[in-house]
Amino acid sequence: MSGRLDGRLVGLGITGSIAAYKAAELIRLLRAEGADVQILLTPSAARFVAPLTLAALSGHPVDADILELQPDGRIGHVVIADSADVVIVAPATAHWLGAMAAGLAADPITAACLATSAPVVVAPAMDGEMYAHPATQANVARLRDGFGYAIIEPEWGPLASGQVGRGRLAELPRIVDAAVAAVGDRPVRAPDPSVRPTRLEVEPRDVDLVGRRIVVTAGGTAEPIDPVRFIGNRSTGRMGVAVAEAALDRGAAVTLIAANVSVPLPEAAEIVRVESTGQLRAALLDRLSEPDGSAAFDALVMAAAVADFRPVAPATAKLVRGGPLTLELEPTPDILAEVARIAHGLDAEGRPTRQALLPQPILIGFAAETGSLDRAADKLRRKGVDLLVANDVSEPGSGFGTDTNRVTLYAADGEPEAWPLVAKREVAERLLDRLVDRLAARQA
Ligand code: CTP
Repeated sequence: MSGRLDGRLVGLGITGSIAAYKAAELIRLLRAEGADVQILLTPSAARFVAPLTLAALSGHPVDADILELQPDGRIGHVVIADSADVVIVAPATAHWLGAMAAGLAADPITAACLATSAPVVVAPAMDGEMYAHPATQANVARLRDGFGYAIIEPEWGPLASGQVGRGRLAELPRIVDAAVAAVGDRPVRAPDPSVRPTRLEVEPRDVDLVGRRIVVTAGGTAEPIDPVRFIGNRSTGRMGVAVAEAALDRGAAVTLIAANVSVPLPEAAEIVRVESTGQLRAALLDRLSEPDGSAAFDALVMAAAVADFRPVAPATAKLVRGGPLTLELEPTPDILAEVARIAHGLDAEGRPTRQALLPQPILIGFAAETGSLDRAADKLRRKGVDLLVANDVSEPGSGFGTDTNRVTLYAADGEPEAWPLVAKREVAERLLDRLVDRLAARQA
């Protein structure tokens, strides 16, 4: 890239003016110039623009609270003050100009401006009478002449109040030009990314699954012992829900078959609730093919922790306390292996006796192992899946109930890939990256 702000960090302060909605476009323009953008918000600005939007567009968590720390414990406005090449305040309200002129650091933007030695560019936006008021004009003069800030005068035109006057936020390219001029040819202040504000752990991905149908299973199955007791497992459904959410955000139509999940389910998914392995199997087999025999989904992500054994004969009445109790357990059907056989047109003996599902769905399994992943490659083959995500659930930060996971991805046609310890959402995104590649290859 060869933008005028290549490698620069821009602190973009947004205050509570109607013009705050233009900030999203300003972030795009700054990024197009090669800048890394970190957003600072006043509390009232957060009522005009959603912090989540700004975080997604900038790639950094938004600094919206002067008392809040960075995810790694550093003080946000100080980190920004020390590493930004320029601080832009756009739009700047009359209130913010007054606070800044008086040095009242009650919000992250004034605090960062007080603490920084970087140039500051201020683009006011407000009602025309407010801008013309001697108080505002005195504050603007103090910022310009006393502090050396570059003031981008507001423009003349229709205002949100319905009046016409000088108060419209300057055209965005003028603000970008002013930032470029303010930076000039100074050296980059913090080329080392570790000194800069923390980036979002999850980079926004493209909407690359539009038109795809994905079935995700999540959570742990429960096998009844009697009407009140069951054999369950420690799965919370976090990993499967993260895959479903990521797939929805990337444009897929998602069916989420949820077995005993203890995290909120994404509203945009079609939700099918099940309890036991038998119900999960029935729900899945129901959704494999269309009436004409074609595949009803493009991919299956089998993240559910399916019980391997179930009581042979669950009691119909509650078991009462007495002597020792022996439960007879039987193995459950291997659902994933069965789906893979159906998808590939194989019967229970592995013979090609029926029509395969077309287009061939991509099948992704999970394997929770303890201690070593030695069995994973064999499991991938045994189940007949395209990809298998294996993790060691006994490792700290991985497995049940955690927000992170360290996994190794096994592929039917390639070498295993060990991924670092990352958020489950990031595991989901990386997995979907691989799925997108495979869907493209299948089409070709
Ligand atoms: N799975 C399934 N049906 C089962 C058991 C597991 O569909 N009855 C699926 C899981 O959802 C997961 C994958 O198979 O995607 C691997 O699960 P895992 O429990 O690790 O494998 P097992 O088949 O139980 O193999 P093993 O007992 O040898 O570990």
